[in-house]
Amino acid sequence: MKKLLLLISVTLFFIASCTFEKREVLPPEFKCDSTVHFHPTIDSIIIKNCSTVPGCHVHGGSGTGDFTNFSELQTAATNGTLMNQVVTTKLMPQGATLSQADIDRIHCWIIQGGLDN
Ligand code: HEM
Repeated sequence: MKKLLLLISVTLFFIASCTFEKREVLPPEFKCDSTVHFHPTIDSIIIKNCSTVPGCHVHGGSGTGDFTNFSELQTAATNGTLMNQVVTTKLMPQGATLSQADIDRIHCWIIQGGLDN
């Protein structure tokens, strides 16, 4: 009888473990509290983080894309490269680190449509 109870307990333990493992772990939801404007918020983050590097994200410069041209930055916002480089991998800006607040501003601006607002 004791053995049977032990077997039932062990079986229940394994079933409970399996159920727990199957639970999906979702990343924390990202929320924007307010509208983020291209001007003066996003443009100044780019200017500030490119100003120390000659040729950074200007036509013929070192960074891919001329971000002094709004439509090129908007393309990067809508095709996922801006999100990937700045928010997800944080590879950009090269040689500098953005504050989490600035990363969140860029993140919000992207998910709000990358508008010329
Ligand atoms: C806030 C400032 C910056 C932002 C938002 C930014 C954003 C980006 C994005 C979205 C790309 C990918 C472009 C594409 O693949 O179409 C990129 C690439 C690149 N950026 Fe920046 N960047 C910033 C600052 C800088 C700085 C300061 C430098 C130079 C020191 C730089 C140099 C580069 C280079 C060389 C690439 C090409 C990298 C590669 O293809 O592997 N960027 N950047």
